[in-house]
Amino acid sequence: MEILVLNGSPKGNLSVTMQYVAFLAKKFPAHTFPIVNIAQQARQLENDPAAFAAVVDRVRSADAVLWAFPLYYYLVHGHYKRFIELIGERGAQDAFRGKYAASLSTSIRFFDHTAHNYINAVADDLAMRYFGRYSAKMNDLFIPAEQDRLLAFTENFIAAVAAGRPTARAHRPLVPVGRRYTPGPASPPAETGGRKVLIVSDDAGDDNLAAMVARLAAAFTGPVETVNLADLDIKGGCLGCCRCAYDNTCVYEDKDGFTAFYREKVKTADIVVYAGAIRDRYLSARWKTYFDRTFFLNHVPTLEGKQLSFLVSGPLAQLANLRQILESYAELQHAAFLGIVTDEGESAETDALLDSLAATAAVQAARPYFPPPSFLSVAGAKLFRDEIWSRLRFPFIADHRYYQAHGLYDFPQRDWAARLRSVFMYWLVHIPAVRKEVYGPKLPEHMIAPLRKLVDSL
Ligand SMILES: Cc1cc2nc3c(=O)[nH]c(=O)nc-3n(C[C@H](O)[C@H](O)[C@H](O)COP(=O)(O)O)c2cc1C
Repeated sequence: MEILVLNGSPKGNLSVTMQYVAFLAKKFPAHTFPIVNIAQQARQLENDPAAFAAVVDRVRSADAVLWAFPLYYYLVHGHYKRFIELIGERGAQDAFRGKYAASLSTSIRFFDHTAHNYINAVADDLAMRYFGRYSAKMNDLFIPAEQDRLLAFTENFIAAVAAGRPTARAHRPLVPVGRRYTPGPASPPAETGGRKVLIVSDDAGDDNLAAMVARLAAAFTGPVETVNLADLDIKGGCLGCCRCAYDNTCVYEDKDGFTAFYREKVKTADIVVYAGAIRDRYLSARWKTYFDRTFFLNHVPTLEGKQLSFLVSGPLAQLANLRQILESYAELQHAAFLGIVTDEGESAETDALLDSLAATAAVQAARPYFPPPSFLSVAGAKLFRDEIWSRLRFPFIADHRYYQAHGLYDFPQRDWAARLRSVFMYWLVHIPAVRKEVYGPKLPEHMIAPLRKLVDSL
């Protein structure tokens, strides 16, 4: 059986993920795992139709496809995303239709589920028979039990393909919005109080998004800087080289305008709005490249204290995965999240939501409000904290310094009062009479007693 590997790593063969593929190739000598370096050759695939067609032909003749990729910012690398867009733009879907597929990633398992959900949805949209996902941690291959787990997954995959077993479809086709947004008369603008408003937009060819951006820009009193992603000087996607890990110096530092833009415009703005149109199941590949390139600041919150919101043109209500990505991005950036406005409703509703966004930004300037963190950022921050404290301290030296300086190494072990109380109670409830009392009908009362005391004292 030929299982064609679509490699999503910008590092091509020098990829961690491809070592997992090489492992499979050794363990399953009766099958072949030819690799196409999609993310690394993105420019060629974009500019040379023959090269793109050759990849499509290889998909057509393969028995199955393995979407194998590193995690990049909740998803896949921007170049891989672009390849997925090209499949639609160039009408190559038929090569994928009915083909068995599985996804394999390596990462530190930070939002690996959203990346696999995305690939699963892409496979469903291409009418592939998506078998399942395998999310490996970068170093899992050193662990015999993890090797065995990967082998079992692959054996099952091969058996399913050989038997022509049915697969469940997790995503239904998206229903496009298909509604034209026509802004109504402007409302009185919201007072920015001299704060800097920056709107970064990728509205190429999307009239609704351009109109939403214009409406929002006019909804503030002060000057608003609007930057189109197409005009940003971005020479290429993140290379995954991690040279930034020592002191946040990007390999592109003086070769293009991205890091200067991020430092001088984004980091100095008070209100940041990111605007994009849905392309397949995410925003554009250009937006993805933007997020990938912000990695030069590694795992630290880079929009701390800013008000952040998104304008989205397209069927976001059908894309819970994308909504989760945007919301957790805002949380993990420690930004005050003002929400997402889309063009899914009537024009008047969109107008009202855009005006309200500007008004909320003005209100919260006087009384800042940062929503409490949810599981998304609590879990994400703990994962980063543990990785940077241990295995990733090298090479991510800049991160380590930041985490130390900003108290992000907030290990729970330091809560000595809680630990002592737990040890004390752990042993105390071994006494039957105490246990009867503690775990008896009065337990709910005991649980709220300290809170009640606090409220009563007010
Ligand atoms: C720009 C960038 C973004 C990343 N984003 C994520 C992420 O969102 N979640 C995660 O778990 N790992 C993330 N990683 C880590 C990579 O997924 C991980 O190192 C992977 O094993 C690299 O595989 P490769 O060598 O095949 O490219 C990121 C790495 C880079 C360079």
